[in-house]
Amino acid sequence: MLYVDGKWVEEGQAAVHPEDRGYNFGDGIYEVVRIYKGRMYQWDAHLTRLFRSAREIKLELPWSLESLTDLAQELMAKNNITDQDDATLYLQISRGAAPRVHDIPSAITPVIMAFVRPKARPVDDLKKGWTASLVEDIRWLRCDIKTLNLLGAVLVKQYAKDKGAQDSILHRDGIITECSSSNLFAVKDGALYTHPADHLILHGITRQVVIDLAQANGIAVHEKPFDIAFLKQADELFLTSTTAEIMPLISVDGEAVGNGQPGSVTSRLQALFEQHIH
Ligand code: PDD
Repeated sequence: MLYVDGKWVEEGQAAVHPEDRGYNFGDGIYEVVRIYKGRMYQWDAHLTRLFRSAREIKLELPWSLESLTDLAQELMAKNNITDQDDATLYLQISRGAAPRVHDIPSAITPVIMAFVRPKARPVDDLKKGWTASLVEDIRWLRCDIKTLNLLGAVLVKQYAKDKGAQDSILHRDGIITECSSSNLFAVKDGALYTHPADHLILHGITRQVVIDLAQANGIAVHEKPFDIAFLKQADELFLTSTTAEIMPLISVDGEAVGNGQPGSVTSRLQALFEQHIH
């Protein structure tokens, strides 16, 4: 069962208004939430980011935090997600439907849509790591907003796929920002380096969990920009996201990162993360 604009519907019955602004303009916001063993992970952080994204696009949400929490719980119950299940919850809010003009119509009601899908943790990939490809960051200048406008992300991810890599690392004028749908960390001499949480990256929830876990366990974290030369000399690289967790990157454009295996700091953080989610 999906929740679409105030109604519970079966998947095949969901419909989108032809002039829904999410559909026409990517004018809306979303969150992807992890469910570990039937429980939503970092739900409060996702809600906080959702409301921030809404404010940043001048979208007033008519729902309370409590009503969205109830909705998420009901969605899991209706889809038989039990305390044995790992899953993801997708929640999107479009600005709503109105005759097509670019500026924001004054009388418009947001449209909410949510579904859950069973999803196992990527345990094999977490051990093996992914390969990456470096590409220019062609996205807009408000990457801190989790908007439905994802064509830039689509194209840079496809760029990686076309090169035979699993994900892309993005750079803006030589400065590394993040990956197509995840944040990037470099490890050098035992310390972590990642782009600051400004307008050029999404303020990832997994990124913040990793920073907190690292600092609590004596691993230094530097939230400062670094360039391609630094990336190429990193001892280890990994990306973080709700679905990919802490994913080692073992090569960039065919060149091995470190010894071409997931590194020891990455593995240590993965172990800390594993304890944290269970
Ligand atoms: N992607 N950076 C970008 C551009 C992202 O789209 C995401 C999330 C992240 C990581 O954020 P978090 O740790 O909060 O998941 C970083 C989601 C999962 C997606 O679009 O599927």
